[in-house]
Amino acid sequence: MRAVILQGVGGTEQLVYDDHVADPQPGPGQVRIRLQAAALNHRDVWIRRGLYAGITLPVILGSDGVGIVEAVGERVDASLSGKRVWINPSLSWGSDPRIPDYSIWRILGMPDPGTYAEAIVVDAAQVVDCPADWTSETAAALPLAGLTAWRALVSRGGLKEGGHQSVFVTGIGGGVSQMALQIASAMGAKVYVSSSSDAKLADAMAAGATGGVNYRHEDWVGRARAMIGGDGPDIVIDSAAGKTLDDLVDLVRPGGRVVNYGQTTGPCPRLEVRRLFWKQVDLLGTTMGNAEEFQAMTDFFVSRKIRPVVRHVLPLKDAAAAHELMESGEQFGKIVLSIDS
Ligand SMILES: NC(=O)c1ccc[n+]([C@@H]2O[C@H](COP(=O)([O-])OP(=O)(O)OC[C@H]3O[C@@H](n4cnc5c(N)ncnc54)[C@H](OP(=O)(O)O)[C@@H]3O)[C@@H](O)[C@H]2O)c1
Repeated sequence: MRAVILQGVGGTEQLVYDDHVADPQPGPGQVRIRLQAAALNHRDVWIRRGLYAGITLPVILGSDGVGIVEAVGERVDASLSGKRVWINPSLSWGSDPRIPDYSIWRILGMPDPGTYAEAIVVDAAQVVDCPADWTSETAAALPLAGLTAWRALVSRGGLKEGGHQSVFVTGIGGGVSQMALQIASAMGAKVYVSSSSDAKLADAMAAGATGGVNYRHEDWVGRARAMIGGDGPDIVIDSAAGKTLDDLVDLVRPGGRVVNYGQTTGPCPRLEVRRLFWKQVDLLGTTMGNAEEFQAMTDFFVSRKIRPVVRHVLPLKDAAAAHELMESGEQFGKIVLSIDS
């Protein structure tokens, strides 16, 4: 099969396209999927640059994929064969819905071979039906970002359907952020966003945001507070961290929730703890999600006819160029690798 293999830590030259990789064989309880498309996540770039824990190389990167089940191992329902499926990239979460079992839990695409390939083997329990009317590119964009946004908003953030809540999402150029905007809007929340780019703020408004502020402005917190009104947003969804995290505890309403899932701008240098306890703020961490959340998230996108925003589609062999696009930070929407065309 064709695949892109990360050979070492470094620049995009470490992503090597190879059209003579052996097809993986499904073991007991597993399926082999012929992939139609894969999508990038920032995690892929962190791994390539050596900024991720527990890197094992060489490896096929990629957590997002959609494709057709073409072979099933022993003890797998044969009727799965021929089905079009999403892969839940949160592997072996374990039995506690609140936290993964860290002794077995992994994210697809390192250490397990990922989706930058024509075929992949995963446990049959990881696949969920994907409707035929989704394009491969749109479908591939959904799994990791959709799952992360769903758990952050619904399970951790406490977002309720029709609950008239307000949500503030940082860095709307990010893949997870955009899905958070889509989910929260569809649930009837008022969604406010931040971005480094006025053009992305305009895109976000067109996609359903109520308002947006440019976080490059010195007083973006004041602007956000004036725009949102009242006591501030009920829920904040953030992956920037750094100094921003302290600003978000300032911005959220008393008794509100700040849910963080990343630290794109680095560790938080200072947190005004007095604000945290005086305002009775819940500061919550979240990562990925469990199988039930993945099913609920895909059901939600399908039943509400919401589609992820795809900005760039490149052929699999151009994975290095796709990484460069992600690192440029210019995108609004997911970057997808087309595999079957
Ligand atoms: N824990 C988890 O389960 C999980 C899952 C997925 C991702 N993550 C992490 O979450 C982060 C985002 O991932 P992604 O794949 O969505 O990445 P991405 O698509 O590359 O998005 C990164 C975004 O961060 C925003 N940003 C940068 N500096 C910011 C700042 N000072 N304030 C607010 N926003 C800022 C930018 O938004 P603008 O372009 O609008 O300026 C940028 O587009 C990464 O650190 C990733 O590792 C964690």
